[in-house]
Amino acid sequence: MEGRRYIVTGAAGGIGSAITQVLVEQGARVAMVDLDGERVGKAATNFDPTKVLPLSCDVTNEADVAAAVETVVDTWDGIDGLVNNAGAVVLDTAWDAGAADWRRQLDVNVTGTFLCSRQVGSHLKERGGAIVNVASNCGKVGYKNMAAYNAAKAAVISLTRSLAMEWAEHGINVNAVCPGGVDTPMLAGVAEWLEPRVGVPAADLLAGMGPAQLGRKVQPIEVARVIAFLLSDEALIIRGQAINVDGGDTPY
Ligand SMILES: NC(=O)c1ccc[n+]([C@@H]2O[C@H](COP(=O)([O-])OP(=O)(O)OC[C@H]3O[C@@H](n4cnc5c(N)ncnc54)[C@H](O)[C@@H]3O)[C@@H](O)[C@H]2O)c1
Repeated sequence: MEGRRYIVTGAAGGIGSAITQVLVEQGARVAMVDLDGERVGKAATNFDPTKVLPLSCDVTNEADVAAAVETVVDTWDGIDGLVNNAGAVVLDTAWDAGAADWRRQLDVNVTGTFLCSRQVGSHLKERGGAIVNVASNCGKVGYKNMAAYNAAKAAVISLTRSLAMEWAEHGINVNAVCPGGVDTPMLAGVAEWLEPRVGVPAADLLAGMGPAQLGRKVQPIEVARVIAFLLSDEALIIRGQAINVDGGDTPY
């Protein structure tokens, strides 16, 4: 990864920060993109400032995405790949879920992935490169109270296959990872939402959210290492796949 240049979206915390850490450790430079400019600026202070570039950007806004990608290409004289990690989940029953929340989840998870992939892809098609989309095991298994998120992540898996097929002729490799039970604020938020509804303390719920085979929660850095591998040339034979990184919870 020495000298390579990547964009990681949703890099202000959780899995996005861990992806940045692994890529920087492997010698790459990372543009840390996030909706929350203040948080991503703070997260960037954890790294060598010559290796990271924090950028405020809404992945659902085409003009924002174009500006961020062009800034990276101008600053580092090109780009080698992208991790579409920005995501949003709003818990609710399918009965109560509002249309605005439905649209937001589709927008951030699916449209954001599409817009960023196309903008970065337009540069990658000259020299090749790799894209990894962060889907979820929710895109394969239907979890309760997450209809929009499940549908959005299933769409990310489908988009991954489509782009892999369409862009192979340009030397662009596109894969997805499907995490589950990862120890981040997003998972803690799920436990907090459930607490009053199931009458179990959030801490107890959270403790039980790790994959059974693993006996603990998946750590963001473990997901990040798989993503870094999928970005590398060693993963060229893996194409259009949705790789489970959920400690064995999903068998397909
Ligand atoms: N935590 C888990 O167990 C888990 C499991 C499966 C998949 N995922 C996926 O992993 C990815 C990272 O999640 P996380 O757990 O680190 O959660 P997180 O909430 O810490 O990270 C998501 C990041 O995306 C950013 N973001 C949201 N909307 C954005 C937008 N419109 N433009 C730019 N940035 C935006 C947020 O500011 C945040 O920093 C997400 O795609 C999530 O769906 C997480």
